Amino acid sequence: MSHFSHFEKGRDAQVKQLHECRSDFPSLERMVAGKPAAYFDGPGGTQVPRAVIEAITHYYVTSNANAHGPFVTSRETDETVDRTRERMAAFLGAVSGETVSFGANMTSLAFSLSRAISRVIRPGDEVIVTALDHEANRGPWLRLAEHGAVVRNVRMTQDGRLDLDDLRAQLSSRTKLVAVGYSSNALGTVNDLPLIRRLSREVGAWLIVDAVHYAPHFPLDVQSLDPDFLLCSAYKFYGPHVGILYARPGLLDQLPTDKLRPQSDEAPYRIETGTLNFAALAGVAAAVEYIASYGEGDGLRRRLVDAMNRIHAHEEQLASRLYAALSSLPHVTVYGQPFGTGLRAPTLSFAVEGVQAPDAARLLGEQGFFVWGGHFYAMSVIESLGLESQGGLVRVGISMYNTEEEVDRLAEAIGRLR
Ligand SMILES: Cc1ncc(COP(=O)(O)O)c(C=O)c1O
Repeated sequence: MSHFSHFEKGRDAQVKQLHECRSDFPSLERMVAGKPAAYFDGPGGTQVPRAVIEAITHYYVTSNANAHGPFVTSRETDETVDRTRERMAAFLGAVSGETVSFGANMTSLAFSLSRAISRVIRPGDEVIVTALDHEANRGPWLRLAEHGAVVRNVRMTQDGRLDLDDLRAQLSSRTKLVAVGYSSNALGTVNDLPLIRRLSREVGAWLIVDAVHYAPHFPLDVQSLDPDFLLCSAYKFYGPHVGILYARPGLLDQLPTDKLRPQSDEAPYRIETGTLNFAALAGVAAAVEYIASYGEGDGLRRRLVDAMNRIHAHEEQLASRLYAALSSLPHVTVYGQPFGTGLRAPTLSFAVEGVQAPDAARLLGEQGFFVWGGHFYAMSVIESLGLESQGGLVRVGISMYNTEEEVDRLAEAIGRLR
């Protein structure tokens, strides 16, 4: 554990400057068609810094074993998992690592949670999902209808927000569950989660938050928001492919999860079926520590919050720059909320007149701009905006390693798309 102790010491540790981060990401050296690749695919998954790659390799070289064994590599594996829970607790602002469970990805964890909830939900109980959400925060809860639950869908507005009046109208004493995204992976919209927490609590409903798109761009604080469950995915914040479930203390222990006889009954273990990806978990801890290295303050939590605020400021500036450039192009329509208000993640989705979204993404990809075109699994967003006929939207995501130069080159390339 000694090589991590500088994160607890705080001030005396060196703070890194964000503009120097690119040299930490080996994959950014990639060239496409003679030009440097520009990774704008962060919402689909970010690149990983060397520290994460080395932590994964280090685990395989030194400590590769199954958990809970009576020998040194197994003990080190247990320590790796425990340390990663603590690191994730700091990232989430949670009281302890005991609130943090791991799984293959967010979707698998959400389905596991849904199967557990299906055993306590009663016919006539109501479940609320939204049109602004990724299918991973809809599909698992839609399945509760098979157990007699009534599923209600909250509309979104044409300018890319959740229709909060519709949410208010759908909430009632029958509502048992509200599943809502913190930020839309299609439009970047940040939802008013403190308000939604208050409204859901007034009717006694559980709040399940999909923070997958929010977590890479803003500091999370589960103690202040107090969701019942919150999910995110480490591969969206510079880590490996691991899903993370936060459960309010005391809640997961009560749920009848799928679980084998020898498996612990207690949180956070009772939803973790089978052997975890230990090497990837070593990488998750390294990703959290990597982010923290850009922040100042006493202790890991303060450094993380400071670092996330700096990352957000950098990303917001680039997103605003791109937004301004694209807004001046007559053949481009940008969807969603404006930037600069704190109510949008640095994710910019647009349509190009006369070009199908997947074609636009492919043409940009050939020039080394990695962007997505389509529905990004946020199918009901595309349906609500009536964009199916043009193949959805083109999505540009800004991450900590993107630069002004990349944004300007991308804007030029989009200008030439017509
Ligand atoms: C907002 C949002 N929720 C959920 C998911 C699903 O995450 P995972 O791939 O970890 O299952 C994604 C992935 O793109 C996402 O963007």
